Amino acid sequence: MEIAVVPESRFQEAILFLRENFPDEPLNQGVRLCEKNVPCELLESHDLHTMEDGLSLMATDPDTGEIAGIALNGISRRGEVEEALKSMGNVENIQYHHIFGLLFNLNKEADLFNKYGIDEIFELRILCVSPKYRGRGIASKLFAASEKIAVERGFKMIKVDATSYFTQKVCESNGLHTVNEINYKKFKDEHGKHIYGKCLEVNIANGNVSLERGDVTTF
Ligand code: ACO
Repeated sequence: MEIAVVPESRFQEAILFLRENFPDEPLNQGVRLCEKNVPCELLESHDLHTMEDGLSLMATDPDTGEIAGIALNGISRRGEVEEALKSMGNVENIQYHHIFGLLFNLNKEADLFNKYGIDEIFELRILCVSPKYRGRGIASKLFAASEKIAVERGFKMIKVDATSYFTQKVCESNGLHTVNEINYKKFKDEHGKHIYGKCLEVNIANGNVSLERGDVTTF
């Protein structure tokens, strides 16, 4: 597998790859912000913005040139999460609030910039491998290559919000440590129904995750 930075000439191809393969992500399966192969402006604008940082990686099959996996890496800067939370008021989409509101609040709570006295964090935002290539260590390789770039560029911290059991395993086996965990079970709507009930089921189906372990984990 060849791993290289996603060049601007392949941004659109990368978006099409994620449109097809990322909807499997457990939080999205639960909340259904994006559907397979359907454009999802709210997520894809974040993806494009992230690729513009020039740190995202793609794994391609050397025999076919086909994209096998992508790591979308971006720079998180001090104060951005608070700004993002404020501007969420302009977005009506409830699924977007359930996903991005959850992640932004988790990051605000983790308060990594103050805790570690830094102004920038290398953030692995999306890891995605096409079903055809899953279970062969490609996500782990993308993670390791991302970490290498982070070190080369002088970042002091790499962070992942791992919403999938498999990504949690990738982070753990690459030596990251958990700074914050949340469990979907604690979020209920006004009728007492679990907001993220489906995410729990998907994580179980995908990896026999122990529910007490934390369904989104920030490393
Ligand atoms: N059963 C049990 N364990 C598995 C399985 C499986 N079917 N597949 C992978 N794993 C384990 C591996 O053993 C490995 O664990 P280890 O590090 O302890 O050895 C770990 O999960 C990663 O395995 P890889 O083969 O490197 O992962 P893969 O290339 O299959 O990609 C990924 C994993 C990216 C999560 C893929 O399943 C995917 O794209 N899913 C849909 C999108 C998604 O959920 N992305 C992650 C969201 S979180 C985020 O983006 C930051």
